[in-house]
Amino acid sequence: LVAGIDSSTQSCKVVIRDAETGRLVRQGRAVHPDGTEVHPDAWWAALQQAIEEAGGLDDVAAASVAGQQHGMVALDENGAVVRPALLWNDTRSAGAAADLIEELGGGDKWADAVGIVPVASFTLTKLRWLARNEPANAAKVAAVCLPHDWLTWKLSGSTSLSDLRTDRSDASGTLYWSARTNEYRHDLLELGFGRDLLVPEVLGPTGIAGHLPNGAPLGPGAGDNAAAALGTGARPGDVIVSIGTSGTVFASSEVAPNDPTGTVAGFADTTGRFLPIVVTLNAARVLDAAAKLLNVGHDELSRLALSAPAGADGLVLVPYLEGERTPNRPDATGSLHGLTLRTSNPAHLARAAVEGMLCALADGLDALVGTGAVADRIVLVGGGARSEAVRRIAPALFGKPVVVPPPGEYVADGAARQAAWVTAGGDLPPVWSAETPEVYEADSIPSIREQYAIARG
Ligand code: XUL
Repeated sequence: LVAGIDSSTQSCKVVIRDAETGRLVRQGRAVHPDGTEVHPDAWWAALQQAIEEAGGLDDVAAASVAGQQHGMVALDENGAVVRPALLWNDTRSAGAAADLIEELGGGDKWADAVGIVPVASFTLTKLRWLARNEPANAAKVAAVCLPHDWLTWKLSGSTSLSDLRTDRSDASGTLYWSARTNEYRHDLLELGFGRDLLVPEVLGPTGIAGHLPNGAPLGPGAGDNAAAALGTGARPGDVIVSIGTSGTVFASSEVAPNDPTGTVAGFADTTGRFLPIVVTLNAARVLDAAAKLLNVGHDELSRLALSAPAGADGLVLVPYLEGERTPNRPDATGSLHGLTLRTSNPAHLARAAVEGMLCALADGLDALVGTGAVADRIVLVGGGARSEAVRRIAPALFGKPVVVPPPGEYVADGAARQAAWVTAGGDLPPVWSAETPEVYEADSIPSIREQYAIARG
């Protein structure tokens, strides 16, 4: 048996699978506080609860932790957490991101150096914010790591900072590690924070990050998007669109993308390759917000959306409810355009919410393809993919067939598959049989995208 863990923005999931076949044997889940600033102890408590619900880890041969990316976990010289972690969805460091771009001489310089361009999500911008706004806390920091690194370290039982480990996928979202050269850029860490810090050693795909109390190895783990790529078993030509707390559009690639605009981030994947990715801050929550506004559940929201005409008679919902990262508008808010007597009804609003969220992701898909990614079909995953309206409307906006794998814990599954790879060894992860996905097709409707482009400005 192998265990895969997903510590996400809202909860912690543990799956225990048969290492050879991938069959699900047990699982557990626990929620933790959801926000943009959370103490890592809350993730640890949820992890322990989820492990207990999954029947413990005593009988597993390996485990790996995947997690929300970028969060700044700052540790003092004794290994204690200095302050609650600032997470990927916290936009307070937007000014720091702009400063860092200017200080290095432009976004292209960052793209050349580390494959990504500063936005408020990335770890170094948070360190800069800390240095400028909380100097007393900043002075205590001896090491910095990411949510999944910290949980792996806690599971290993170590309290020594020198035992911190990470993997390529998560390291590539910090702004101080380059996926292209596989090296830390301590000079950039110093530029951002004002001095160098201890950082976790970056492991390769099957490196060992520590051991569980039963002696089983802990794999390197991964950022959640890279783990999902492993968990869905995506094949060449697949672009994964994940509609979770964040919206992500990504593909596995042999080539490190270099997008000086920063729209496409050049992350690493879990297999030694790259994971070009576009990330939006507003995804499943747009559906939540629409359901709340209309005072209906998600099934009814979906039914309403499908009852309105495509394009919602010109009603457009621009979904930047929590600011936005792609396009980079940290202070933006959401808005409704095209409100008329005809469009002022629940069905049109529901449709506009689904279409607005999908148009933002379709913009991401265009950007990804613009950097050379091949998109034969879209693999739609995440909580938002459970909506019938999302599944049916998506192919018209993406202009590609959309496949929806059966609901699953793809991030935790990817971590479990990595753990199985650690025990099996070899150059490629073990192949687990997958259930047949549902396929959705529709003619593309460019006018909806055009309407959206005008409204978002
Ligand atoms: C990726 C990102 C989000 C988080 C969500 O850059 O910020 O997808 O990883 O957990």
